[in-house]
Order: sequence, then C-alpha cells, then structure tokens
Amino acid sequence: MKVLRNHDPDGLHRADLDHCIHPWTDFADWKENGSTIMVRGEGAFVEDAQGNRYIDGMGGLWFANLGYGRKELIDAAAAQLTALPQYSYFTNIGNPPATELAARLAALAPGDLNHVFYSTGGSAANESAVRIAHYYFDTIGQSSRRLLISRRNAYHGSTFLTAALSGKMDEKAGFHFPKGLVHHISEANCYRMPEGIRSESEYCDFLAQEFEEKITELGEENIACFFAEPIMGAGGVLMAPTGYHRRMKGICERHGILYVSDEVVTAFARLGRFFASRDLFDVQPDMIVAAKGITSGYIPLGVTLVSDRIYEGISRPRADGGIFSHGFTYSGHAVACAVALANIEVMEREDLCAKVQQTGDYFLERLKTLSDLPIVGDVRGSHFMLCVELVEDRSTKKLFPDEIDVGKMVDLHAQERGLIVRPIRNLCVLSPALILDMKDIDRIVSILRESIEATVSDLSQMTGHDLRA
Ligand SMILES: Cc1ncc(COP(=O)(O)O)c(C=O)c1O
Repeated sequence: MKVLRNHDPDGLHRADLDHCIHPWTDFADWKENGSTIMVRGEGAFVEDAQGNRYIDGMGGLWFANLGYGRKELIDAAAAQLTALPQYSYFTNIGNPPATELAARLAALAPGDLNHVFYSTGGSAANESAVRIAHYYFDTIGQSSRRLLISRRNAYHGSTFLTAALSGKMDEKAGFHFPKGLVHHISEANCYRMPEGIRSESEYCDFLAQEFEEKITELGEENIACFFAEPIMGAGGVLMAPTGYHRRMKGICERHGILYVSDEVVTAFARLGRFFASRDLFDVQPDMIVAAKGITSGYIPLGVTLVSDRIYEGISRPRADGGIFSHGFTYSGHAVACAVALANIEVMEREDLCAKVQQTGDYFLERLKTLSDLPIVGDVRGSHFMLCVELVEDRSTKKLFPDEIDVGKMVDLHAQERGLIVRPIRNLCVLSPALILDMKDIDRIVSILRESIEATVSDLSQMTGHDLRA
C-alpha cells in the first residue's frame, strides 16, 4: 500500500481538534493526543494519515466483515447511485433493492421472521423494535405491556431510548434517562459467576430465577420485551452459560413477553452463520435486529426482522383509525439495500460462513495460547468475536486499579507493531474482517503476545512489583 504523499496530515489533525466532536471521547486525552486519522483500507488492513499500516483487529467497529475495497460492493453502490440513490419509502412507495433484500433476509432468517423494517443502524433498529412492540401490544388490546427488560452491561445503542436500554451503568453519568421504563437484570458472564455458584447449569438456574423474580415484581401484564445479544459484545464479549438463551426465551413465552435478539454484531457470518440466534443458541426470537456486517460497513443500514405474528398484529386495522406512524427518511435506502444484497451475494459465493467456522475455531485456539501470560485472566468468545481479559491477579481475578488503563497500554504496543486491537478497560477485543486466513491469525496472536509481554514489563516498572514472577 502506498503512502498518501499529497495528504496534509497536520492540517487534518488541527481541523479535527478544532471542529469535531467524537463519540465516546475522553476529551482531556483527545485534546492532548489528538486523533489517528484513517485514510485508506485494503482487505483486512487500514492505513492512517502518516502512512502507518495496521491489521484492523477491530474490523472498523465490528462491521468490516468482507474487508475494505471489495469491488462488488462498490460497483453495486455506484450502479444504484446512478439509477436512483433514494426515494421516499413511506406509505406505498418501494424500490427494487429494498424489496429484493427484504425477501433475501426473510429466506436467511430463522423461522417466521418474514417481515423487515428498515432503518439506518443498530440503534435505530433496536429503537424500531421497541416501537413495533409497543404498537403491536396496543393494537392487539394489551396496551399495559410497555416495560422493557435488558441486561446490565448490554449495549443496544446510543439514541435516548437505546442508551436507556443499554446496561453499562458507568456510561449513564451526566445523562438523564426516563425512570421506570427500562429494567435491568444481571448479565451472563461465565468468567465471573457469582460466589457460591459452581457450575454453568447452576448459574443458568440462578439467572433464570432472577428473570422470573423481575417479571413477578413488574407484573407480566406490564412487560413488552426482553432484549439480549447472543454474545454480549461491547459489554466484554461475555459468553452465557450453555442453554441460557433457550431458557430465557422459554420464560418469555410463558409470560407473553417478546424476545428481541440484538444481532447487530453477531449476524452476517461473524460467528460463521448469517444469523446466530437459532443456529448457535437454539433460540427462535420474536424479532432480530441487525446492522453493521449487513453491508460490511460500506454504508449505514439497520434492519428489524419481525415474526408473522407480530406483523399480523401491527398490520391490523385499529379501532381509532391510527396507523403505524414510525419511519425514517432513509428507511429502505436504495443504495444501502443494493450494497447489502451484493454483500450477501459475495458471502454466499465465497461460502464465507463455512470458512469462518474453520478459521474462527483456529482463531480461538491460537488466542488461548496466550493464557500462559501472567496478566491474562481469560480468553473467550467465538469465531471472529474474541477477547482477552487482563487481570492483576489471575487466582483472584482482581482487576488493575482504575488509573491503569491496561487495555489501552496493550493497544499502543500493538499499534507500534502494526495491529489495532479494541481496548475496553481491561479487555483486548478482536473482531477483524472475516477474510483473514490462518497466517494472518498467527500474526495477530504473535503481535498480541509481544504487546502483552511489553505491557507486563511496563507495569512491573510502574508498580515496582515484578509481574513476570
Ligand atoms: C449489540 C449492538 N447493538 C446496537 C448497536 C448500535 O448500533 P449503531 O452504532 O449502528 O447505532 C451496537 C453498536 O456497537 C451493538 O454492538
């Protein structure tokens, strides 16, 4: 890859500092250090304005499933831009790519999720799921069903409602969310099970009982839906105990609560399946929400897939004459849908799911070899959604103090060696493009080993305590 010589990196950096507000930013750190400005992508690699080239271990932000520069996706976008970029999708107006994509998604999705509501990303698609659930229950005469249950540490988006739905409590500081609408129960985290619980099956019983108790407390007649990611992503790539999702769905069914599976990260081959809910977690959701990998991030798109039963409810005439008043200017965006169709075509032609099933197993196996390092507490995840958890003490799982940003320390060492990992507090998260082969995976793991070793040295110096011992 060539360095962009006619680029003006300093001008860009200055303008970025003067005018941009980045999401999720620690402003003090940003004002001191500025941004890395990314200028190009090629396959699973990205290049910054200084010409540094990295393996993109973040996959953009869990989205670059096919990698960068795929001609098929670029051509599909160009052809649709030429024909018709977008037109109103409201009321009775459609366009060919949106229609074709809805039919493709209905065929790929599990069970009777035959109906597609389009939006512009994961937050808007989750928000749409809530609005669909509320409208559904109201239309079928159960208007008291309004409350939403999700899990602590979940991430469902950043609109007002989906931020309220998300469960990272430390990210709520400074914001004011409505009280009483959203209720959180425990996340499922097999690495940190509560004290006294000795097996996954006991843990599953514990979590199921907590869910039942929450339903009793709120009254089932007041609850609309339960939201869950198959594997909790931004919350720390948390794996639930075996059978957990099936169990939670069973409880939802018994109490008439809709189960919404947030597959914004897990869908479109990241776990070796187009959708993970049923194939990997034995759950037939009432709605599936997807985004990100649906276009491999080439253009924003979110979808909310809805069961026949819910569709029948929301499409019934209402006594008050009301209609389903929800939608966006860019719902059914013709270019986004054309790119999604091309994305699915390439994934099918290249049998990407089958490939990911093999390379994904290899990835986890290789990553687990890092378990011998003195600060590696856990290596977990599935296929191309993986994480290394770093701890100060492996026997007690004690975390480093807050002022030590150990994930960031590893990321900086990795960047010097040509790899970007996503640091989330004490975690190194990996979600690269799914096109990586075994050689690339070996390279990632070897850079990560060196970077963790270098971090151990830094920490030993900082604390005066030899962590290598
Ligand atoms: C599981 C999950 N749901 C929803 C979202 C929100 O998606 P978006 O940022 O496209 O609005 C994300 C984003 O990371 C996510 O990981």
